[in-house]
Amino acid sequence: FLGTTYEAVKVAIEAGYRHIDGAMIYFNEHEVGQAIREKIADGTVKREDIFYCGKLWNTFHPPELVRPALEKTLNTMQLDYVDLYIVEMPTAFKPGDTFHPRDENGKYIYHETDLCATWEALEACKDAGMVKSLGVSNFNKRQLELILKKPGLKHKPVSNQVECHPYFTQPKLLEYCRQNEIVIVGYSPLGTSRDPMWVNLKCPPVLEDELLASIGKKYNKTAAQVALRFNVQRRVVVIPKSFNPDRIKDNFQIFDFSLSQAEMKAIEGLNKNIRFVELLMWSDHPEYPFHDDY
Ligand code: A2P
Repeated sequence: FLGTTYEAVKVAIEAGYRHIDGAMIYFNEHEVGQAIREKIADGTVKREDIFYCGKLWNTFHPPELVRPALEKTLNTMQLDYVDLYIVEMPTAFKPGDTFHPRDENGKYIYHETDLCATWEALEACKDAGMVKSLGVSNFNKRQLELILKKPGLKHKPVSNQVECHPYFTQPKLLEYCRQNEIVIVGYSPLGTSRDPMWVNLKCPPVLEDELLASIGKKYNKTAAQVALRFNVQRRVVVIPKSFNPDRIKDNFQIFDFSLSQAEMKAIEGLNKNIRFVELLMWSDHPEYPFHDDY
């Protein structure tokens, strides 16, 4: 079955995108892989032009499950390697193929989390050539430090993928990551799809912001393009999501203008310190990352 993801990835590569953010838990890696392979076969790109990020899900944290999980991604995508493989969340769940393990009361079944042990298994995958770089996601400062200070650390995390947009600008984590040469990859850079199933709607829509719209008007750009440009200009990687061909193309048209320092400052001032993605259903996990200030 090839659906909307397959089409969207092909449109994106044609529009100039090279970084594709995926995960086993999105259940569409076969579509992403097929789209990438077709765009290579038709000469649009070479494999080395593409940067695919895959993610280790919570149920595969035990070291002996790490390599099989990555192998499964490579098999599904029919790729020889991924460019980046990241720990999707610092919260381990009961190991196995049930991605959302729950007890008879519907409560999530967690698992003892040893981030350093998981990390060592990832390092072995890199040494085996299955992945070029390793990273993390949804890690707070303490959890990053755990890895960075691990005795015998062989490969540093190169990136931390976290929520980042004009209403949640991550000033403290960004500064910490800069000091440690960790790239912040900003998810939900447009403020999410506002799906009430998983999004905190107490935070107003980013794309309806008047400042973003008025700055956009000056450059003949949309609020979305200004929001993306803002992060790119402060060296935060953005991974906007769209299934709509016109919006996929629009979201790439952010390299032909630049925001002034005053505009950057003004947009930074929009920060509300409210997360759209709180993941509160896991807030009782011992490694739930968002209790800490950053
Ligand atoms: P669609 O797929 O219909 O384009 P985020 O990247 O922050 O997760 O936001 C994704 C949401 O924003 C999706 O609902 C997507 O819907 C929508 N979206 C993506 N690009 C734009 C844009 N340029 N203008 C308005 N909405 C957009």
